[in-house]
Amino acid sequence: MLHHQDIDRSLPIPEDLRGIFNLARAQEAYRVISAWPGYAPTPLRDLAGLARQLGLGRLSYKDEAGRFGLGSFKALGGAYAVCRAQPTRHHCVTTATAGNHGRSVAWGAQLCGCRAVIFVPERLSPGRAQEIEALGAELVRVPGTFDDAVRASARAARAHGWLSIPDTCGLELLPAAVDVMTGYTVLVRETLERLPPREPPTHVIVQAGVGGLAAAVLGYLWEGLGARRPRFIVVEPERADCMLQSIRAGRPRALDSGLETMMACLACGEPSHPAWQLLSRGADDFCAIPDSLVAPTMRLLATGRFGDAAIVAGESGVAGLALLIAACRSSSLGAALGLGPDSHVLVIGTEGATDRGIYHSIVGTAPAAATGT
Ligand SMILES: Cc1ncc(COP(=O)(O)O)c(C=O)c1O
Repeated sequence: MLHHQDIDRSLPIPEDLRGIFNLARAQEAYRVISAWPGYAPTPLRDLAGLARQLGLGRLSYKDEAGRFGLGSFKALGGAYAVCRAQPTRHHCVTTATAGNHGRSVAWGAQLCGCRAVIFVPERLSPGRAQEIEALGAELVRVPGTFDDAVRASARAARAHGWLSIPDTCGLELLPAAVDVMTGYTVLVRETLERLPPREPPTHVIVQAGVGGLAAAVLGYLWEGLGARRPRFIVVEPERADCMLQSIRAGRPRALDSGLETMMACLACGEPSHPAWQLLSRGADDFCAIPDSLVAPTMRLLATGRFGDAAIVAGESGVAGLALLIAACRSSSLGAALGLGPDSHVLVIGTEGATDRGIYHSIVGTAPAAATGT
């Protein structure tokens, strides 16, 4: 399923969004995050063998599995927002998570020496729950979906005076949610620094839950490269495609289905409002993929096919690459996305084996220690 919109590339970021998505904020996030202990840019892997197989000019994979030892790019966002909120020892921070954001907030709370209470959907896997609790956070399981957990965390923050660190927000702009997105821009900066300045990718594919990551990436590229920015493709699970449904409806839409997808960290039913605002005005394509594409993509990466390095990637982490492979194998979708031998595609491997048990059951081997997951 694909929705394409014709974007006028000569337009700058809309005025009302410039306070949220700008290079000054991104620069500040980089200054702070790159000074944290253990900071190192994550690898930008060249998948030359797979690119040849798919008939592409170049395929770059930004591998976030080893980010601060937390397994995903989310380490950049929640922890940064916690630090910006400057909690004291008496404070408690709270958030809702489908897994990775909660781990980041718990880690940030640990760095700042404050308490963290993390609200999760009742179906959160035991492996993901353990990773959050291992960082000293208290976990509260909420009946329903991620979106129910978001509301429960916001209610608890109001009732107890806790600092709320959401990765999503509605019409009322929440500074912490903006900081979370700003933290993510570090990975875009690192990527561009590794590529020749005059040769940015032609396409970028980013997986979306609430859309915060996709908006952070698009905002940075739009500000930094203007009309030269790559074609921007947002991908979601078919059963949690709130961005695709919203763009089709022409306004933000909340899904009422159960969001049952194996891409658990993308199982969100409502777009984050600022993310929606930017993506609906600047992203080129919105796609949804079925769960059936996930396991083969994880296994392909794990075995290092076509002479490429072996990569450990989790279920939500492979969504962008899974769409790319499907598109290159279908002449109509590949053509609709403008993919071909002159394309340089950037995908973001947003997570490693963030649930080791699930990874093992899908891939058949334990995640390699080398990736730091
Ligand atoms: C591994 C992974 N990839 C992608 C995303 C999507 O990020 P967002 O919810 O900001 O769209 C998430 C969100 O938790 C995630 O954990």
